[in-house]
Amino acid sequence: MIISQTLREARKTEEVWEKTIREEERPLFHLTARTGWMNDPNGFCCYGGKYHMFYQYNPYSSYWDSMHWGHAVSSDLLHWEFLPAALAPDETYDYNGCFSGSAIEMPDGQMLLMYTGVRLEHGKDGRPMEVQTQNIAIGDGIDFEKYQGNPVIDEKQLPEGGSRNDFRDPKIMRASDGSYLALIANRPEDGSGQILAYSSTDCLHWTYKGKLAENHCRFGRMWECPDFFFLDGSWVLLTSPQDMLPQGFEYHNGNGTLCLIGDYDEAACRFDEKHDQAIDYGIDFYAPQTVLMPDGRRVMIGWLQNWDAIAIREKSDPWAGQMSIPRELSIRDGRLWQWPLRELEDHRGPLIEHCGQEISGVTRLEGIRGRVLDMELTLHVAENEEGFHRFAMWFAEDEEFHTGISYRPHEKTLKIDRKFSGSRRAIIHQRRAKAYPKNDELKLRIVLDRFSVEIFVNGGEQVMSAALFTPLSADGISFRCDGKAVIDVRCWELER
Ligand code: FRU
Repeated sequence: MIISQTLREARKTEEVWEKTIREEERPLFHLTARTGWMNDPNGFCCYGGKYHMFYQYNPYSSYWDSMHWGHAVSSDLLHWEFLPAALAPDETYDYNGCFSGSAIEMPDGQMLLMYTGVRLEHGKDGRPMEVQTQNIAIGDGIDFEKYQGNPVIDEKQLPEGGSRNDFRDPKIMRASDGSYLALIANRPEDGSGQILAYSSTDCLHWTYKGKLAENHCRFGRMWECPDFFFLDGSWVLLTSPQDMLPQGFEYHNGNGTLCLIGDYDEAACRFDEKHDQAIDYGIDFYAPQTVLMPDGRRVMIGWLQNWDAIAIREKSDPWAGQMSIPRELSIRDGRLWQWPLRELEDHRGPLIEHCGQEISGVTRLEGIRGRVLDMELTLHVAENEEGFHRFAMWFAEDEEFHTGISYRPHEKTLKIDRKFSGSRRAIIHQRRAKAYPKNDELKLRIVLDRFSVEIFVNGGEQVMSAALFTPLSADGISFRCDGKAVIDVRCWELER
């Protein structure tokens, strides 16, 4: 197989630069860019007995530019090993970037990648314009050859009014009759988003089938990075809308995440949505993809970062961009629930437990500190008592820094605040979500992995995620209350 000069250079760069990044500078379980910059998960799949995760990648600097596909594999979704970069922008149709896409195993055992190629064209007024097309690369799970007949889907196969500038992120999947379906995000005339469906019997020749779903300007504008799957009796469409407007506590502004749950009429190629919700209620989570584990679990990983907050990174940081912890998905009472991959619990060290602990003022608990841990926190919230107005837990804390989660029972709001996490940028540092105690208890599971926090509320009904770049020496944890609160804490340090 011929490897282009552009890809060879990227592979050489990552191999050399990677050596300058110490293991302690990365999280333990969260995949980071091998070198340089990472955004969306791409081609997340199970192939040859391993999980493959590709990602939007600029190996040359900690900024978004010149998109390649980075590559890592794992046998347990928790420990990742880097493989050489898989795709580089080296053809006329993808010269300005190999954007997001997906992967599938072909009947002959080869792995097929479907991705968006970006090229620049000059309009009549001389201004450059991006043109996005869908392309194929086929390989053995390490090296991939771009298909001679690329692009396989281009503007000629767009429905009327569909934009050729915003036409990207193909999700490839099998239809029930064994043929292939590609779901592609596109901007229609109303300026918002729609998910187009294409079908094929060989993944090389595609026919436009129709619009799987349409935004009609309800949830943000353009929808990016679709994923679509059957789970617990319903069909689930995940997408990441740009330019969201907040709707109460359900959605926040900027780049958001959207989960639609409903029915799918395969013959008509139409998704009928019944319920909508945010996927993540925190600051940093975007463009998730899912994989079906051999035992039937549907697991999701997202980019643990947000376009509106990327300035939080410093130029000198060794890597830029990390993925979330793998999350097992389920549908309960018509909503999407998430829970950390259960195997994470196998990495728990000795248990440190404080039950029925009264918190008033600032309290530190024996043995509770660290930046890599798994904590179960139960906050007892008696409805009829004037116990307290605000309870908070600060972590990644020292005299200078801290990040906090706080709960106000009267408002039923849970807030994450990383204003003092070490960021020198005036960007979004807080989010609030409604969170309702069950039987007078609010249950939080908090996963810290050096540079991130993920908070699973009430057994996974909601999740709030945030990246933090606080120096690792800030490893204190304190509990704070303006009245009297009672908590139970079970905490484990996580070990590799
Ligand atoms: C989403 C996204 C995709 C695109 C990629 C480019 O984060 O904008 O729509 O393919 O990033 O890196």
